[in-house]
Amino acid sequence: MSQTIGMLCLLSLTLANCQVVRFETEMDSDTTNYGPVSMVVDNLAETAVNVSKDSIDQLEGKMNRTRQDIAGNIEVLTANGMAQLSDVIYETNQLMVANPDCNVAWSLDELNENVTYQLGDCTGGLESLLQDFRQEAQVALSRVQGFVQQMAQLPAKCQTLVPLPLNPSPSSGGVVCFINAMAEINRGMAQSMHIASQLLVQTHRTAEELVEQAQECRAAVVQQIGDFLREEQDQCQQ
Ligand SMILES: *[C@@H]1O[C@H](CO)[C@@H](O)[C@H](O)[C@H]1NC(C)=O
Ligand SMILES: *[C@@H]1O[C@H](CO)[C@@H](O)[C@H](O)[C@H]1NC(C)=O
Ligand SMILES: *[C@@H]1O[C@H](CO)[C@@H](O)[C@H](O)[C@H]1NC(C)=O
Repeated sequence: MSQTIGMLCLLSLTLANCQVVRFETEMDSDTTNYGPVSMVVDNLAETAVNVSKDSIDQLEGKMNRTRQDIAGNIEVLTANGMAQLSDVIYETNQLMVANPDCNVAWSLDELNENVTYQLGDCTGGLESLLQDFRQEAQVALSRVQGFVQQMAQLPAKCQTLVPLPLNPSPSSGGVVCFINAMAEINRGMAQSMHIASQLLVQTHRTAEELVEQAQECRAAVVQQIGDFLREEQDQCQQ
């Protein structure tokens, strides 16, 4: 039974849950009676499910924040680009209205569309990162949730085990089934948690790089459109 203690402590990481397992160790002397063991197994599975659900909630929270961060970055980048150009666009427009014979070959609407399009191009990398992350996070989360589901179904699954002929105790087959399956699920769960956290780390790293690139790109758009408008103003004033 010391195997159980090690396994469950690893799973739940809290002292309280290790004590639950010690309780099972005591109960184990009474394995001829199916009821109590089954109850303890149910309790263990429920504890494991509860603890895992907490970890999943935390993981989902981190994924939500990552999504919000990237979406927020996209918004700020675009809004800042527009804000940086608004003065020169406004000035140019005033000048054109005051001097109808300037006869420019473009309209304000076209220009706005052009700026919006180019700024959108700058954040294109972040947009597709966000889209990929949405999908991958969903997959990673479902994978972890799948293990929790398996945990919850374990008592029922192990209870139906037929006792082995050489096994003196009718319920120990079920307990062994539970312990082994739980260890297996545990491994899968730890692995899928690791994959999920790597996805988070990698996404943060990529997002940082893409934000930097988008800032440079935005600065170039602001510069280019600004230069164009200032040239137009000069020509109009000649
Ligand atoms: C598991 O969580 C539920 C709901 O929060 C609670 O009612 C139940 O007592 C918990 N079970 C164990 C074994 O911790
Ligand atoms: C994460 O976001 C989803 C969808 O927006 C929401 O349903 C869920 O409650 C959020 N979870 C957490 C832990 O923030
Ligand atoms: C509009 O966008 C194109 C690139 O799509 C660019 O080459 C052109 O110079 C832009 N027009 C203005 C007025 O800046």
